[in-house]
Formats: sequence, C-alpha cells, structure tokens
Amino acid sequence: MELKLNLCKSKPFILLTLTLYVAFIACNENTIDTKSASVADSVHTPPDTNTIPNDELGDMIRYGKELLRNTAYYIGPNGTKGKYLGNKMNCNNCHLKEGTVPYGLNFFSTHARYPQYRGRENKVMTLPERVNNCIERPHNGTPMPLDSKEMVAIVSYMRWLASNVPVGKNVPGDGGMTLAYPKRAADLGNGAKIYTLHCASCHGNNGEGQFNGDSSTYIYPPLWGKYGFEAGSSMHRVLKMARFVKANMPHLKASWDKPFLTDAEAIDVSAFVVCDSLHPRPQKEAAPSYSNIKVKPIDYDQGPYPDSFSARQHKYGPYQPIIDYHKAHNLPVIF
Ligand code: HEC
Ligand code: HEC
Repeated sequence: MELKLNLCKSKPFILLTLTLYVAFIACNENTIDTKSASVADSVHTPPDTNTIPNDELGDMIRYGKELLRNTAYYIGPNGTKGKYLGNKMNCNNCHLKEGTVPYGLNFFSTHARYPQYRGRENKVMTLPERVNNCIERPHNGTPMPLDSKEMVAIVSYMRWLASNVPVGKNVPGDGGMTLAYPKRAADLGNGAKIYTLHCASCHGNNGEGQFNGDSSTYIYPPLWGKYGFEAGSSMHRVLKMARFVKANMPHLKASWDKPFLTDAEAIDVSAFVVCDSLHPRPQKEAAPSYSNIKVKPIDYDQGPYPDSFSARQHKYGPYQPIIDYHKAHNLPVIF
C-alpha cells in the first residue's frame, strides 16, 4: 500500500496536473490528434443468437447473456438472486455487449481456452474460478458458488459463444489492441488533460460515473473511488486499460477499426485514471499475487520483479527497455 501511494505522490506532479487543467481552461483548445487504425481488418464473428437452441440449455445460455448485461440486478449488492458483487457495475461495462465486441474484452474464445494456467495464482484454473476472479476484483465482491445456477448460466453462454472456435485457440479480435510504446514514461499531466476533454463528460470529474434513475446500476460506470474496480483488477494496469481504451473509448466515438486516441494518449489517460494517490479505489488485502515472479505482467505495479527496473517504471513506463530486457534474458513478456 505504502509503495502504491508513493508511485505518483509527488508535489511537482500534482502541481503540473493543476497547471495543465488551468492551462486548458484558459486556452480551451483541442490539441488532441486522432490516429487511424493500424490493425488487421478481419476479426472473428461470433455465432448468431438465433443459433441458441430452444430447450433447457438454450434457456441457460439466454440467462447467462442476461446476467452479463444486468449483473447488478441479479447478483449485485441488492441482488435478486444473491449478493455477490461489491459494486453495481455490470460485466458488460468492460466485456462490451456480452463479450461480443472485437478488442472489447470479448469472450469469443474464452471457453475454448480453459482450464488454463494462471500466472497470478500460479496454478491451473477452471472457467468458473476465473469468473469468480472478476467478481472478487473488478466487482470487489465475494465468490459465487461454482455450482450456482448463475455460474452455470454464465459458463453455458460462454460455451455457446465459443462454439465456432477451435479448442485451445485464440481468434482475431481477442485480447487487447497492439500499442506502440512511447519512448517516454506515461505523462500524467497530459492524461489529466485528455480526461477532462474526452472522458469526464460521462465518467464524471471525480471518476464517479453516473447512476441510472433508481441508482440500481450505472449509465456510465465509475473509473475510480469507492465504487470503482478494485486495485487488484487487470483494468488497474496501465497497458491493459490503454489497450481497451484505444479500441473503445470515448464510448460511441472510438472503435477498434477507428480509434480516437493515439497510443500515447490512451496510455497517458489510463495512467492518470489508475494513479492511486490521485484516485483512491478499493483495495483488498489479498494474498500476495504472482509467487512465480517470472510471469508477472510488465505493467504490474508491485515488485518483486525478475529484473531491476523500478515499480514506477513497470507501472508507467518507458516499457520498451523492460520488454527488451525480458527478451534478451529469455523471460516471458506478459501484458
Ligand atoms: C472493470 C472491468 C471488468 C469487469 C466489470 C469485469 N471484468 Fe472480467 N475481465 C476484465 C479484464 C481487464 C480481464 C482480463 C482480460 C485479459 O486478460 O485480456 C477480464 C477477464 C475475464 C475473464 C477471462 C477471459 C479470458 O478470455 O481469459 C472472464 C471469464 C471474465 N473476465 C468474466 C467476467 C464476468 C462474468 C464479469 C461480471 C461478473 C466480469 N468479468 C466483470 C475486466 C472486467
Ligand atoms: C459518451 C460517454 C463516455 C465517454 C466520453 C467515455 N466513456 Fe468510458 N465508458 C462509457 C460507457 C457507457 C461504458 C460502459 C460500456 C457498456 O456498458 O457498454 C464505459 C466503460 C469504460 C471503462 C470500463 C468500465 C469501468 O468503469 O472501468 C473504462 C476503463 C473507460 N470507459 C474509460 C474511459 C476513458 C479513459 C475515456 C476517455 C478517453 C472514456 N471512458 C470516455 C461511456 C463513456
């Protein structure tokens, strides 16, 4: 915790951020460049929903899809089917459109790739256990029983969604978009400026998002604060978030084939969002992750590491020297 707080807690940085806010208000000039896509133009197409069978299994698949969309209603803090989530976000807020959007944290091939070795836990995990990771971390909740109807429904949906994917394979559009890494570290001042210009209108000046009419869930999900995703979430990593943001944010303006922000801008704004001293969020006292430090992601913000780069450089870059070091020393490069 001490370490996290120190990562970006420097007076000069806060002053710089404030200066940039003021500078922006003063000149009110949009200096953000947009950049066209440089990605493969073919992505995987998930099965059509009319292939969901009209039988008991089909009912579970449809229920699973519904759970991803209205998660808080069913299993949120006031859930009608159980109280597992610690916040009122829906899976869909990150796994866009029930996990069907290319580079939108989709579930195209997910079911085809589990059980799988998970570096963080250093063991082979099943898909329901992986679902519980997201319930415990981004949703800051408690695990759902592995044999609950809701868990079986979510897995049934994922099985159907991956029915046109070969077992064990990834498909084009999985994972995050590729980014070109700037030679410099993430620029939090620039990130603040981008946030004000392109994110705050929906996610709020304090990252709080916007509740719907009866406050049962969000129109715009929070990015930090007491209801934001928990600090152990993958979304709390700069590169993981930047790859999602590049392809999907600002919502309705950006898409994977027409990103709105440049790679450096996506990295800067993500770094600003996950800067813990500026933007506190829930943090569980979890068991230490990555007992096998070799498989720790490059942008993970807590040591120890299998290299001598600082925690600050791992979190905010420059990333290329770390990547080069890992390649030169036969260490995996994981994001
Ligand atoms: C705040 C964002 C966020 C929310 C909310 C969220 N997740 Fe995730 N989830 C992620 C990220 C980030 C990953 C990592 C994806 C990766 O490694 O590329 C992930 C990964 C997963 C995976 C593994 C995917 C794979 O292909 O390996 C599953 C399964 C999953 N989430 C299920 C869920 C379910 C079910 C919910 C709702 C109960 C949920 N998630 C809510 C961010 C989120
Ligand atoms: C027009 C409104 C809008 C703008 C502007 C916008 N977002 Fe979002 N954002 C959304 C919505 C809506 C979702 C949830 C998507 C869904 O549920 O389908 C979302 C989801 C997210 C998520 C994942 C969920 C979470 O709460 O952690 C992140 C991260 C995110 N946005 C970051 C950004 C960043 C960074 C910017 C600025 C570059 C931005 N957004 C601009 C509306 C917006």
